[in-house]
Amino acid sequence: MSFDLVLFGGTGDLVWRKLMPALFQAFRHGTLPAGGRILGVGRDDHSHEAYRELIRTRFDKVELAKRPTLEEFTRFAAMLEFVRMDLSRPQDYARLGAALAQRAADTVLMYVATAPSLFTVVCEQLAAAGLNTAQTRVVLEKPLGHDLASNRTINDTVRRVFSERQVFRIDHYLGKPAVQNLFALRFGNALFEPLWRREHIANIQITIAEELGVEKRGAFYETTGALRDMVQNHALQLLCAIGMEPPINAHADAIRDEKLKVLRSLKPWTAQTLAQDVIRGQYGAGTVAGTPVSAYRDELGVQPNSPTETFVALRTEIANWRWAGVPFYIRTGKRLAGRDAHIVVNFRPTPHAIFSSRPGLANRLVINLQPRDGLELHLLAQGQDNRRNASSLAPVQLDLDFDKRFGSERVGAYERLLLDVIDGRLNLFVRSDEQEEAWRWVEPILEHWKNDTQGPRVYSAGTWGPSTASAMIARDGFCWAEEA
Ligand code: BG6
Repeated sequence: MSFDLVLFGGTGDLVWRKLMPALFQAFRHGTLPAGGRILGVGRDDHSHEAYRELIRTRFDKVELAKRPTLEEFTRFAAMLEFVRMDLSRPQDYARLGAALAQRAADTVLMYVATAPSLFTVVCEQLAAAGLNTAQTRVVLEKPLGHDLASNRTINDTVRRVFSERQVFRIDHYLGKPAVQNLFALRFGNALFEPLWRREHIANIQITIAEELGVEKRGAFYETTGALRDMVQNHALQLLCAIGMEPPINAHADAIRDEKLKVLRSLKPWTAQTLAQDVIRGQYGAGTVAGTPVSAYRDELGVQPNSPTETFVALRTEIANWRWAGVPFYIRTGKRLAGRDAHIVVNFRPTPHAIFSSRPGLANRLVINLQPRDGLELHLLAQGQDNRRNASSLAPVQLDLDFDKRFGSERVGAYERLLLDVIDGRLNLFVRSDEQEEAWRWVEPILEHWKNDTQGPRVYSAGTWGPSTASAMIARDGFCWAEEA
């Protein structure tokens, strides 16, 4: 099958940091269909050769499992071409049309890796130039809008130009092997299903912690913040994966229907829950992995009195028969104590205690997403000194490390998602109604913050965020995983 992959924003960060390395890995793994062409689009006047050279030099700066040899890169780069375009000029779309017409590929993929303000422009211009044919798919990167209204505007425009089955909205967390493993764990095994409900689960915690700060993206981050950047999309998708009902089959819409139901069941916010159950923080100066780092307000492109949150912790509930009353905690932040993304499922304690000691850290399942991908089952077992004390229990851990089991050079998130776009598989992409529902749910928080003069709590870089996040969970009688 031949394909043309058009990368709008072809010289931008996302392309050289994520998309090109992912395409190269797919090429190296032999999974990128032969006969493909990758057309980088940008305003500069690059020849095809100059564009290839640009990507080659950028490859030195990205993380690749193994550096490409010159011969390997040259074979990959033969697929790369460059098309100069100013995305607001209709004539330039004619130039793109001419480049595409040179070989009439079976599938044309338009990957809009530009500033979100250009999404609607690109879609409208593609339609005006007649480039939205039945063979075309469009890929949209997050953020899709900055609130419900702007998200709707983008989705409405996209809907006028493409049918929903042609639209691939990326949330790269869905492409992570660990997230697919979560689906496999829940829907490929019957073991956990009877336990996966309010009768047996005390609470669920989703943590996405980053060591990195905002790097050079200060200006972007100032208008985004952690709620829009991580919670509205990645964290809520994880919440859906952990909380959804088993879909009737593995088709895209069956999965997306169930995720949508979770989003619709999230408990509506009240003035009281907004005040108590949502914590925002902003990193101050501190030390991360032994290196002193500066405060968010001292980062490039950030206002000295910025109210933007770099940390969010919140408590919510899924109001349905399976989950009523079970708290779901979400926590994400930059410049935290480690790069660590995991989901903790805390089961309820035994109904009646017959052993005298009850050491902590048991009765829980941990789903590790990164840096390692795996499962930990924490149980209690009879401890070592059982001759002296017949009832001394000790926590033990069953570890399943998927990186060890399947090899750590597994298919990365973008590689997987790009191959899915090429093959037309929509399972791991977000439907517009899911996205709108997620915006609808976060919007009261944004509104609340607008009127809240307190602003975010400052936390020292290299910690787990403001202490109010611990106080929030402690109110329910629980604690975060690292505090147990
Ligand atoms: C992106 C956010 O969507 O996800 C970034 O815009 C964040 O701010 C990144 O750093 C985290 O992704 P990952 O895969 O490194 O956990």
